[in-house]
Amino acid sequence: MSEVPLARLFEIATRRRPIHSNPEVILPVQPDRPIAPEALFRADDPPAPGDGVRRRILELGSGWGEFLVDWLQQHPADDYVAFEIKSDRIRRTIKRVRKLEAPHLRVVPVNFAWFLEEILPPAAFDWIIVNFPDPWPKRRHWKHRLVQPDFPERMAPLLRPGGQIHLATDYGPYARKMIQIFRRAADFEAVFPDSDFLRRRPADVPVTRFEQITGESEGRTPYFTRWRLRSGRPA
Ligand SMILES: C[S@@+](CC[C@H](N)C(=O)[O-])C[C@H]1O[C@@H](n2cnc3c(N)ncnc32)[C@H](O)[C@@H]1O
Repeated sequence: MSEVPLARLFEIATRRRPIHSNPEVILPVQPDRPIAPEALFRADDPPAPGDGVRRRILELGSGWGEFLVDWLQQHPADDYVAFEIKSDRIRRTIKRVRKLEAPHLRVVPVNFAWFLEEILPPAAFDWIIVNFPDPWPKRRHWKHRLVQPDFPERMAPLLRPGGQIHLATDYGPYARKMIQIFRRAADFEAVFPDSDFLRRRPADVPVTRFEQITGESEGRTPYFTRWRLRSGRPA
């Protein structure tokens, strides 16, 4: 089967949808050029009250927005960029975020399997969050998983020095694969002491909709794993 040309994928990914009329929604303007930082982040004025730090967060597959709403409640000065493809989930997320005081959220509604690091500014993020990505359990579907062997080296250039990647999944085989991939990644070191993962919730992590659904129906305990960019690496 012939490959779909990049320009055609870009046309599909950015085709007009009603959700695009929300000011929080940002589209890339070219398939191979980063979105301008000023379209994603606040101008660098003094941080709002709170912990006094303005971090930049990237979430891949934000779903219905539980994690980001909780984050923006805890850290109102932070700038948050979420990738999510489904319009109903984006709509629900935006509605919830608008109830918060002075949040800064931008949603990029494109397929991250098609466009991701090419359309994001380099060395821009302090955190990358991946909660309960689609597990694709069948071996012939593994190629669709977000976390592939090259995921750490693709994500490292997006992070600022000391930036972290947080991943959660309740699907054991995918968790083990993620951990194996990050253990081999020279650019990253494990954050959780004594172990590369936790089977109990870190204090700063809320329950997401997907976790709740599968936890209730299938009774699985999630794996949480976190990796920090080693000092002196990419950025
Ligand atoms: C299993 S759900 C988890 C949602 C949320 N993180 C949670 O924990 O409730 C995966 C999410 O990623 C989104 N998603 C999956 N593949 C995607 C892709 N290629 N591009 C953008 N979003 C995607 C889905 O629409 C869905 O909302």
